[in-house]
Amino acid sequence: MTQDTRTAATSQNWDKAGWRAYPRVQMPDYTDAAALNAVEAQLSKYPPLVFAGEARRLRAQLAEVASGKAFLLQGGDCAESFAEFSADNIRDTFKVMLQMAVVLTWGAQLPVVKVGRMAGQFAKPRSAPTETMDGVELPSYRGDIINGFDFTESARVPDPNRMLMAYTQAAASLNLLRAFSTGGYADIQRVQSWISDFAGGPEAARYAEVAERIGDAMAFMAAAGVTAETAHDLGTVDFYTSHEALLLEYEQALARVDSTTGLPVAGSGHMLWIGDRTRQVDGAHVEFARGVQNPIGLKCGPSISEDDLKALIWKLNPDNDPGRLTLIARFGAGKVGDNLPRLIRAVQAEGANVVWSCDPMHGNTIKSASGYKTRPFDSVLREVREFFAIHVAEGTIPGGVHFEMTGQDVTECTGGVRAVTDEDLSDRYHTACDPRLNASQSLELAFLVAEELRARRRNGGAAQVIKAG
Ligand code: PEP
Ligand code: CO
Repeated sequence: MTQDTRTAATSQNWDKAGWRAYPRVQMPDYTDAAALNAVEAQLSKYPPLVFAGEARRLRAQLAEVASGKAFLLQGGDCAESFAEFSADNIRDTFKVMLQMAVVLTWGAQLPVVKVGRMAGQFAKPRSAPTETMDGVELPSYRGDIINGFDFTESARVPDPNRMLMAYTQAAASLNLLRAFSTGGYADIQRVQSWISDFAGGPEAARYAEVAERIGDAMAFMAAAGVTAETAHDLGTVDFYTSHEALLLEYEQALARVDSTTGLPVAGSGHMLWIGDRTRQVDGAHVEFARGVQNPIGLKCGPSISEDDLKALIWKLNPDNDPGRLTLIARFGAGKVGDNLPRLIRAVQAEGANVVWSCDPMHGNTIKSASGYKTRPFDSVLREVREFFAIHVAEGTIPGGVHFEMTGQDVTECTGGVRAVTDEDLSDRYHTACDPRLNASQSLELAFLVAEELRARRRNGGAAQVIKAG
């Protein structure tokens, strides 16, 4: 399919309930239809969590990413959970993301678009429908918005009322994130005071160096009359939310019509993505996503064919709008070379505008000798390096990164400068689903990406931007 033969513009022939007529995968079978209907009716009346103008603003910023004038940082929990919900957890993840953004802005000399896997990242696709433990087989845990983590028959029954709890938690999370973003917490002048959190670690010295240079620049600007009081942007930050649009009953109930444009918009988060397991061209998830105006992410794993990718691109972005579609590559270290070039070439041949982002997490999950699901930090680093090298070779733009991370000092991924070993995994393994980078590993990774971006800048990245843009 090409742009000329593409399907009708996204919001035409589309209804927020239309996905129900398409094959669905990875969604729960609710047994109590009356309870499900009641929850859907209630959620439909609740206010949207995000607003259409915000989603449009993010789309405009992602268009800048697509043309190499900004860089995307997307990160947060694999699965948010009801049990781990606290103001401290939200603050710490937000703070590490801002620290990473500082390092990346310094490296890329570009604005960094910050998108959390937060305030809605609850529903999980699973590789198997059931789990067996000590000879007992039960339905898999599918995220707190669907069923419970406890390994009991009753916990694993999908409960529609969990959608209301997830909505409430997402609303409270967003409220806090909005306060942090604009209430002084994100003031760039605080950057230096954050160093103390990393005292002693090797990454602290590097962060201190970056912070010192920023401090010098700030002092210069203050002397020239530019401060957070005179330039509001220095004291605030744009922070967006995102999640996998997996549970379509929830997504439909929160879909609204943008009063400015008259077009449908998802009210559950600013950016939604389609998972690697739910991206069937004629499936329910793609059908829902094609009609909402939000920026859409599409996970691309080794099994995606060039033809499927082309069909998905025109279905999701028939107007070829540069900020609409982010392709999130997640192949695994050592497999990027077999997959990314063929997909980049397919995209270039179509003349399609996309943001290319790298998720170095989901292709690198292994079972450790101690039995924990983990990700070796070295594989994560290697996939990021391969992603950048291939974009350099193809003359295209590595637009962003997508991480599973937390501000907490967890021991879930092995390696890093403060090496987490296989034996350490049991110490602080708190994730409800996949292993996350801890604060130190996240910052270390940000430095690596910053170095890649600096190298690209020195090697004429700007010239490529003009050519591709
Ligand atoms: C995820 O991002 O948590 C996820 C399940 O990713 P993927 O669809 O790429 O496997
Ligand atoms: Co995950």
